[in-house]
Amino acid sequence: MTDINALIAALPKAELHLHLEGSLEPEQMMQFAQRNGVTLPFKTLEEVKAAYNFSNLQDFLDIYYQGMSVLQTQADFHDLTDAYLQRCAEDNVRHVEVFFDPQGHTDRGLPFSTPIEGILSALDSAKDKYGISYKLIMCFLRHLSEEAAFETLKQAEPYMDRIHGVGLDSSELGHPPSKFQNVFAAAREKGLKLVAHAGEEGPPEYVYEALDLLKIDRIDHGNRLLEDEALIARVRDEGLTLTVCPLSNLSLCVVDDLKDHPMKRMLELGLKATMNSDDPAYFGGYVNQNYRETAEAVGLSADEIITLARNSFTGSFLSEAEIADHLAEIDRVAAQFA
Ligand code: ADE
Ligand code: ZN
Repeated sequence: MTDINALIAALPKAELHLHLEGSLEPEQMMQFAQRNGVTLPFKTLEEVKAAYNFSNLQDFLDIYYQGMSVLQTQADFHDLTDAYLQRCAEDNVRHVEVFFDPQGHTDRGLPFSTPIEGILSALDSAKDKYGISYKLIMCFLRHLSEEAAFETLKQAEPYMDRIHGVGLDSSELGHPPSKFQNVFAAAREKGLKLVAHAGEEGPPEYVYEALDLLKIDRIDHGNRLLEDEALIARVRDEGLTLTVCPLSNLSLCVVDDLKDHPMKRMLELGLKATMNSDDPAYFGGYVNQNYRETAEAVGLSADEIITLARNSFTGSFLSEAEIADHLAEIDRVAAQFA
């Protein structure tokens, strides 16, 4: 019998769905609040943690935007990112493709440069410090207008060679991908990779729109595409990667019980699913914990765990040569567990 948890720990992995602002641990939130003189509605760590009891995505987002108000300086964004990378190193995560939400910061008066300079300074040290490579993905907040997204794309212009892609996040219901068709076309013109949250709470039609109108390279979440047989076949046949986030899905009541999580079903259907933590500080676990709890709840086999690790690299925006190196390392680790 393979020791599944030892296999999970030993495998090199990539994380493809992580909001840096969602890695803000309660301890760090209190620390930043204090050093920046920001008043939070919580007095103790227990009060913060008690507030993390969500019934849907919007419940979470309200707390998430409030939490990020403690991030004020480049140093805060640097420290936030560095703490996340340290967790990745502990989990044997070798490559990250991280999201940030510039509008969550510019809308409260910070210049665009503050979050991105702080984040990039930590990411640029990650290879030497932790052996971790990265891609940075800038998300547009879908509850805001397409015009606001265009303004954000304009502000990002000086950083175009350091931003690898754009994404779409925040409140899904009522904000279909079609709302952002023009700004995604503009991002594509700039050579950026395109991803979008779709089918987390939104219906299969939103996944169709993300594919047909936004022409995305990868689907974030995608749970509800399972409601449509033709869509399952299309996503499988096109080899599109899904960045699935089980502990997030449990926290936001996308599934009622982790035992009902569709991760195993996705793999059995031949979908290219990957395992990710989304907003680990809010949802109770980083990458390895998502692997461990999901494996236990739905009964993932050693082969399925290895497939998920492989998918995390083949679904990344790394070069073919870089992917091949990571896959060879996975083969070496897998052989030790065979
Ligand atoms: N922003 C941060 N986490 C998110 C999620 N899971 N869905 C949509 N927007 C988000
Ligand atoms: Zn997300």
